[in-house]
Amino acid sequence: MSVTILSVETSCDETAAAVVVDGTTVKSNIISSQVDVHRKFGGVVPEVASRKHLELVNHVIREALDEANLDFSSLDAVAVTYGPGLVGALLVGVSAAKAIAFALDKPLIGINHLEGHVSANFLSEPELALPVICLVVSGGHTDLVLITSIGQYKLLGATRDDAAGEAFDKVARVLGLGYPGGPLIDALAASGDDTAIHLPRAYLAEGSLDFSFSGLKTAVINYLHRAEQKGLPVNKADVAASFRRAAVDVLVDKTLLAARKHQISTIMLAGGVAANRLLRQEITYHAAREGKRVIYPPPVLCTDNAAMIACAAYHKYRRGDFAPLTLNAVPSLPL
Ligand code: KG4
Ligand code: ZN
Repeated sequence: MSVTILSVETSCDETAAAVVVDGTTVKSNIISSQVDVHRKFGGVVPEVASRKHLELVNHVIREALDEANLDFSSLDAVAVTYGPGLVGALLVGVSAAKAIAFALDKPLIGINHLEGHVSANFLSEPELALPVICLVVSGGHTDLVLITSIGQYKLLGATRDDAAGEAFDKVARVLGLGYPGGPLIDALAASGDDTAIHLPRAYLAEGSLDFSFSGLKTAVINYLHRAEQKGLPVNKADVAASFRRAAVDVLVDKTLLAARKHQISTIMLAGGVAANRLLRQEITYHAAREGKRVIYPPPVLCTDNAAMIACAAYHKYRRGDFAPLTLNAVPSLPL
């Protein structure tokens, strides 16, 4: 018997719903981005995000079912992201999913957003052999995780200050590129010289698997201030390329170090920054030299989406791991 799951994701600024069969067949994956609304503020405004989710959530769910050519009665379960994320934003999805699960008398499955990002990899490779080292790298997290089996995560290291995506967004803002900054820096960097500006790489103590990106971000800001004070021209593409290179160098080196330390031969990328072209290219190249393999989702499944939530939910469904209808949003839920 196949298992059809409707999933809802509203943890940040994308209102998303998907229908996925057996954790692998994506029947629909609807993402309504609020980026245009938040762009004029230079970042996500939590209160605005909640209101937008409320406006959009029912339409997005309807569209996910229509595109899958299914109605509510064909669903086996309803899954939803309940953390981490913005509390008001999460509550909209959690309330919608609870109402549907209650009305249909079907199981409700609560999903950790980060587990969702990791699971995007299992959508295309459900039989992937574990253990793997996963670099979860998004707007809110930069974590190195050892995954021994689905649902078993050991945190090996994390950022001590800014998340990598946050640094991309802040640097894009000071360069006047707009929001969200990651894809804009990634595109602009392609035409820049990544050796043009010397920027620091924070490796912390020897052997440390923690990250720090605030020094790198500050170094870019200081470089731009100095250029402005001296009236020197700034080549934005060179800044973008040098910054991207510095961030990617540390992400690649620490991920490979984690894999070496734990003798793991498969590396996984997850989260919005996993869409970064240089990161994908560099980690694949360096891992291959050590006989290791790297997998990552297609870009649309790296950034926030609901298909990854349905995939994570499928594995919980198989374990009978259901949530009560009292499920609440948990803004700082750990992996
Ligand atoms: O996973 P995600 O969609 O949301 C969170 O859970 O945070 O990640 C969003 C982050 C943003 O900081 C965005 O700038 C970054 O991922 N991002 C990228 C790229 N695409 C998205 N960063 C670097 N290069 C990209 N191509
Ligand atoms: Zn995310």
